[in-house]
Amino acid sequence: MATAPAWCRTHTCGELRKSHEGQSVVLNGWVHARRDLGGIYFLDVRDRYGLTQVVVGEALAATIKLGPEYVVSVRGKVAARSGAQVNSERATGEIEVIAEALEVLSSSPPPPIDLTGSTETALETRLKYRYIDLRRSTMQRNLAHRSRFINAMRRAFEAQGFLEIETPILTKATPEGARDFLVPSRVHPGEFYALPQSPQIFKQILMVAGLDRYFQVARCFRDEDLRADRQLEFTQLDMEMSFVEEEGVFAAWERVMRDTLRDAMGIELPIPFPRMRWEEAMERYGVDKPDLRFGLELHAVDAWASTCEFKVFRSALDAGGRVMGLTVAASHNLSRKDITELETVAKGIGASGLAFWKAGAAGGSGPLAKFCATPEAAKALMEAMGAQEGDTCLFVADRKALTRKVLGELRNQLGRRLNLIPKPSSPNDPAQWRFTWVTHFPLFEYDEDAGRHFSAHHPFTAPEDWTLGGAMEGREPDLGALSSRAYDLVLNGWELGSGSVRIHRADVQQKIFSLLGIGPEEQKRKFGFFVDALSQGAPPHAGFAMGLDRITALTLGLDNIRDVIAFPKTASAVDLMCGAPSVVDPEQLVEVHIASVLPDAAATPAVPPSPVVPTSPTLPHSPAIPTVPTIPTSPESKG
Ligand code: AMO
Ligand code: AMP
Repeated sequence: MATAPAWCRTHTCGELRKSHEGQSVVLNGWVHARRDLGGIYFLDVRDRYGLTQVVVGEALAATIKLGPEYVVSVRGKVAARSGAQVNSERATGEIEVIAEALEVLSSSPPPPIDLTGSTETALETRLKYRYIDLRRSTMQRNLAHRSRFINAMRRAFEAQGFLEIETPILTKATPEGARDFLVPSRVHPGEFYALPQSPQIFKQILMVAGLDRYFQVARCFRDEDLRADRQLEFTQLDMEMSFVEEEGVFAAWERVMRDTLRDAMGIELPIPFPRMRWEEAMERYGVDKPDLRFGLELHAVDAWASTCEFKVFRSALDAGGRVMGLTVAASHNLSRKDITELETVAKGIGASGLAFWKAGAAGGSGPLAKFCATPEAAKALMEAMGAQEGDTCLFVADRKALTRKVLGELRNQLGRRLNLIPKPSSPNDPAQWRFTWVTHFPLFEYDEDAGRHFSAHHPFTAPEDWTLGGAMEGREPDLGALSSRAYDLVLNGWELGSGSVRIHRADVQQKIFSLLGIGPEEQKRKFGFFVDALSQGAPPHAGFAMGLDRITALTLGLDNIRDVIAFPKTASAVDLMCGAPSVVDPEQLVEVHIASVLPDAAATPAVPPSPVVPTSPTLPHSPAIPTVPTIPTSPESKG
């Protein structure tokens, strides 16, 4: 039987303890840092598991050339550290390895990223040299967390009898509201595959096929603008179930989330999660993804406003709008300057102003004071706003949707600025994760620019009313008034996932397509196979997909999904490491029957230039290791 070469590690750099004292060991890893103590060198050798201090005597040091991030094999004896030498902050801090032989397995120029964590490195540099960035312990922790999370979730789904089934990547477009990535076909000139925006249609077809509990760790591709919680390609934990409605899906997911958090993080998550209707979320928090870790709820003051003479309020109400407000407790001492800043934010979102009132039974102060001159008016407004003497009330009067949007954003900003979010009692305190199902979303949303309705979730979502407001009987429906069976799972102000009860009736599905302006010919071309499937024994079904990148980022307390993705794209949709996207050889284009028609340079928005990355970076806080002549590897460490 072949034995491992002598340079191969016997232990990892996170493994050795006092109990190993006296043992001969071999460690492999990267030279993380070095300290020089009068002829003796202390090396920190690092791998994914930790750091171990290696003591290299003068004679041995003189025989080798080392630099930061060199990969080494160290053979030596484990020695216990005494008293003051013990490093209690490090798992291996009770020991050190006295090197007997040291072999360089691989060399490196000084790394462009400070791996000791004492200086921040520019994001562009981190992404260009991602293989070095990923050596950082935080990035390794993030990827390990993601891996544990996926595996725990797989086990949790399997425990409930779900089958993991892969669906195609080269496929036909599934409308999820973004642009498709297209792949030209070589063998079918002029034809294209689309990369899936989600496995939506396939998972529904799996239900028609009788595979009544499906899940998948699914790669999705959407050509959309990137943000902190969005990438071009991302991963969904996707599922679908037959013979259930909302509660069946909620119960299955609650068990999956509870099992996963227990298994991957040791957290006992209380279930079931609360449910909240969309209308209630919008009315109380102004947004469909409320952060429930703090109060500061919106108050409706339409009734009060309708009796007062303030022109701004009256004209909003006369135009069919709303007057709503937020009450900030007196203890927060909101200043005039703070209010002016908040007004600027409100205007940036589209409000025409932000009225305020320092509440007082004797009239208070601010622009609204003169409308609160009578004790009755002041008391009524304090009641409507849930305000006490001295609190600051902020008001927006506008169209209903805009009023909610502005106050919802102000609420979130105030939550952060005023530190309203309670600190968790421990890193794993389940109270810091306030999951909520938001249900009964509208079926359609009206897009003013396009001048038409779109599906609020996707066109496969069942309506609350299967007659579609009379449309199934040939009447003209009020599309804006229709409610859906769509739901979101919301966590701390983030949309973690979405799903719905589906349309399992071909006739209703066809009608939805028609209401969305997709005519019979286009329906047949794009969705004919799907409607056919629905007409051939489709069971009632429902499902859900959670953003894996989002849940793993949130459970690590991160605010950007980039940090849980090994190789993410920049905000301008570029992979800085490999340089994608890139031009391809003209022959490749010919093969797939493509000719590029480039936009007029003058008419194209400038793409930001690739950031400049230093070519000969220095490693701060990691003193250079003396360069001594390279000598042949010592005989002990040869294989
Ligand atoms: P939806 O489009 O809401 O629903 O997506 C579900 C979840 O996927 C995540 N997500 C993203 N994560 C990172 N980057 C993106 N660009 C991105 N887009 C979406 C979010 C989101 O909540 N097929 C339906 C689900 C269903 O009905 O079962 C769907 O894809 O966390
Ligand atoms: P004005 O009458 O325009 O001088 O506005 C008086 C106060 O009302 C100012 O504090 C404005 O910021 C505020 N205001 C103006 N329009 C609105 C609005 N649509 N909603 C709330 N406050 C407003």
